[in-house]
Amino acid sequence: MLEVIQDQGLGARYDIYLPIHKGLRAFMCQLRPRVGALDTEDEAAVTEALEAVRALIVLCEGHLTKEDTLVHPYLEECAPGSAEGATAEHRDHAVSLEILAAQADLVARTRGTARVSAALRLYRLLALMVGENFIHMHAEETDHNAVLWGTRSDAELQGLEARIVATLTPAESAATLRWIVPALTPAERLEFLLPIRDNAPPVVLEEILSVVRPYLDGAAWSKLERGLRRAA
Ligand SMILES: [Fe+2]
Repeated sequence: MLEVIQDQGLGARYDIYLPIHKGLRAFMCQLRPRVGALDTEDEAAVTEALEAVRALIVLCEGHLTKEDTLVHPYLEECAPGSAEGATAEHRDHAVSLEILAAQADLVARTRGTARVSAALRLYRLLALMVGENFIHMHAEETDHNAVLWGTRSDAELQGLEARIVATLTPAESAATLRWIVPALTPAERLEFLLPIRDNAPPVVLEEILSVVRPYLDGAAWSKLERGLRRAA
């Protein structure tokens, strides 16, 4: 059952979960109906859909690792025990991702009626995985942010975010930004990209914009361009 949530600081404090969780939700929401509508006799469509499933799995595995190695130890310093529940859920999520990967492999290997049932099971497993992640991400955004906002300044949280970003490989970075930037509001996009414009070599912003441009509509793209032309 939904409750009215009183998030002290929501929208006003620095939220390390907002961009990545919006990106993950967007990817999951786009992929689930795509797998549900998959034509299992169309090899090209199956290959593309399974590539997308595997890309989601890789993104989720990377996200689990970042949270386990950087965010949860930080939370434990802020409030001992505060990351225990999420850490346990992450172990379950890792198993879910393995099951999902095995099911994707089964869809790839099978043909005919065996593939039809393998693809239907993949769709159902993906729906369960999305469901467990949606509940989990909401708990992190509320319970973990309450701890972070109650004990740390925005500058300290930005420092944590910078340590997370520093661990991303170029491939992880591109895969993550492809989903994050289009999933944000125009104002959030600028909040996310202006510090990069101001602090990184120009080529970094150019590369990010080339990754995300195909996924922004005309209005979103011109708002972003206008905002990025603003004086530093
Ligand atoms: Fe998590």
